[in-house]
Amino acid sequence: MLAKQVKLKIDSCHEKSGEEADPDGGIKQLLAPVYGSRYINDPIPKYELPSSSLPPLVAYQLVHDELNLDGNPALNLATFVTTWMEPEADRLMQEALSKNYIDADEYPQTVELQNRCVNILANLFHASDSADFNSVGCATVGSSEAIHLAGLALKWNWRKRRNGEGLPTDKPNIVMGHNVQVCWEKFARYFEVEPRYVPLSENRYVLGVEEALSMVDENTICVVGILGSTYTGEYEPIEQLNQALLEMNNKTGWDVPIHVDGASGGFVAPFVSPEIRWDFRLPLVRSINVSGHKYGLVYPGIGWVIWKDESDLPEELVFHVNYLGGDEPTFGLNFSRGAGCVIAQYYNFLRLGFQGYREIMLGCQSVAKFLTDSIEQMGRFEFLSKQTDLPVVCLKLKNTHSYSVFDISEELRKRGWIVPAYTLAPNAENIAVLRIVVREGFSEDMAGLLVSDIKKVVTYLESASHPISKVAEAGFATPETTKFAAGKTKTRGVC
Ligand SMILES: Cc1ncc(COP(=O)(O)O)c(C=O)c1O
Repeated sequence: MLAKQVKLKIDSCHEKSGEEADPDGGIKQLLAPVYGSRYINDPIPKYELPSSSLPPLVAYQLVHDELNLDGNPALNLATFVTTWMEPEADRLMQEALSKNYIDADEYPQTVELQNRCVNILANLFHASDSADFNSVGCATVGSSEAIHLAGLALKWNWRKRRNGEGLPTDKPNIVMGHNVQVCWEKFARYFEVEPRYVPLSENRYVLGVEEALSMVDENTICVVGILGSTYTGEYEPIEQLNQALLEMNNKTGWDVPIHVDGASGGFVAPFVSPEIRWDFRLPLVRSINVSGHKYGLVYPGIGWVIWKDESDLPEELVFHVNYLGGDEPTFGLNFSRGAGCVIAQYYNFLRLGFQGYREIMLGCQSVAKFLTDSIEQMGRFEFLSKQTDLPVVCLKLKNTHSYSVFDISEELRKRGWIVPAYTLAPNAENIAVLRIVVREGFSEDMAGLLVSDIKKVVTYLESASHPISKVAEAGFATPETTKFAAGKTKTRGVC
């Protein structure tokens, strides 16, 4: 997140006691701690480094108290990201707080655990099915970094092929559904690849294979298949895409590969839907990203990228550094970062095994089904999520009502539930939905409480005491209301 500069009156913080109104927006510049009388008497500047130190307890309490304003992670049903781990994992992470992941020579065993994780994932994604199993991969901060690395490798490989044939390399493009997460848009812009977005339609909320193929040409570095759309949880038709693209490549002589964005589904499908062929069993799938911090069940800060074969990762992108002692190959957008998440991922692999992950994913799916069935009984909603895919419940209002999903989201927030409402991507942007992500720890009991609160909210919104909402009054699909709704929510990049 970008931080905005707060304009300060120079010296005001040090000279004046009490709070100072910011000239631009009424933002106070000073913290006036209630603990003052016990520990400290002076106000503390908020936007400047305080001139002197504070006792640790006071600093802790000030920060701690302010963070109480954040939502409750356990009630955050907007996120796919893990909010709970076992105390043993917490302990391992705590023990690793002082370890820098990049210091491979100093922490060789952490590197070993990373390498084991890469192998485990390559196996899980069936890279090892081929006789010449030679996968490579690495840990990243999340799927976003993993996608940027995979995208770079695809761009470099495409360029190398084109250079080898004496063809121009100035117009790379990437074909993907309009429902991609914002990290793909970032990749395209940051690394100068033309994004070709396949539009959704009123009744198709993921990539259409024919529509995607119509956008592919000799300059396409890859087609993206998402295993679990961020918007609805639906899996994209990756096996069909592979087949159609194979035929196109054969006909044209092109060599367009597929990258699978398995941010969420990469840790769901292998355990509960092993029959779905979306991974390295398909010849055109050359790289896969997955978020360890989503259904990999690790706290935020870990993703993975796996290439099917060493040759899919251009050697030129790998740097070798020697200033930490020893030769260290590194491919990543970052350098230093904590080692705890890698260690916690390995802990989960050991602790849960295949069966443990399977039981948790089945449990999540069962809660998602319970939620879907219970909400369906209310008669107000239609579901865009499929119970076979991610354990996500994505719903829209069936008919026109005097309220919108945005009103439901806002009312639920008053009870503490964080359930986002947003519009789908083009050309389905006049469909507004609510999305509930079921994660480990969200029990059927909690789901029952949520259903009961949704019922209360709907009853309230339908009662005479509630003013007709701006969105619903105008009819949701007008350009003004879509704009209004878009202004209220993230239309893309819900995570
Ligand atoms: C399909 C998909 N891809 C990529 C991302 C980005 O993942 P991360 O938050 O791990 O960077 C998300 C996040 O929700 C996602 O749903």
